Amino acid sequence: MTRHFTLALTCAALAVGGMAQAGGHEGNPAVKARKAHMQLYAFSLGTLGGMAKGAVEYDAAAAKAAADNLASLAALNQMAYWAPGTSMDDLGDQTEALPAIWQEGSKAAAIGGQLAEAAAALAAVAGDGQSALGPALGPVGQACGACHKAYRKPKS
Ligand code: HEC
Repeated sequence: MTRHFTLALTCAALAVGGMAQAGGHEGNPAVKARKAHMQLYAFSLGTLGGMAKGAVEYDAAAAKAAADNLASLAALNQMAYWAPGTSMDDLGDQTEALPAIWQEGSKAAAIGGQLAEAAAALAAVAGDGQSALGPALGPVGQACGACHKAYRKPKS
């Protein structure tokens, strides 16, 4: 009796462990990488946006660090994780990336270039005082928004 019970518990533990492992391996690695990249954008932009609005106290070093990070991220070569065959049409709800990213005439890479330029301009002034942030953040936010509007699944 005790032995059966122990066996049953062991089996249950193995089953749960197996599920956790399957979960850890699930998902397309390119999709995970680009979502992580986007989360890093959002984190830095959140810091800077908060300071621009006055919700977070302006700190020149922190603002400069966040803007430098944003500019560095935007300058990374991201081609490997925007791999063809990883759109919503290919992977379903694992991703919000529209197939248009990979289609003829796609402006996704060009918008990425605009973001890199805007983020570099922001990094150049982010340490100069709170009032410099707002105007320099505008073009950054526009680049994020333009790409999402064209190439990310609309929120339902
Ligand atoms: C070149 C196009 C492009 C640019 C520029 C861009 N994004 Fe994205 N973003 C996308 C796409 C496409 C997705 C959906 C990715 C997926 O689900 O595979 C996305 C998803 C996201 C997500 C959700 C990530 C997740 O975990 O699901 C966040 C947050 C985000 N973007 C923030 C930003 C911010 C902030 C900026 C600007 C600093 C930005 N993005 C610039 C195309 C872009």
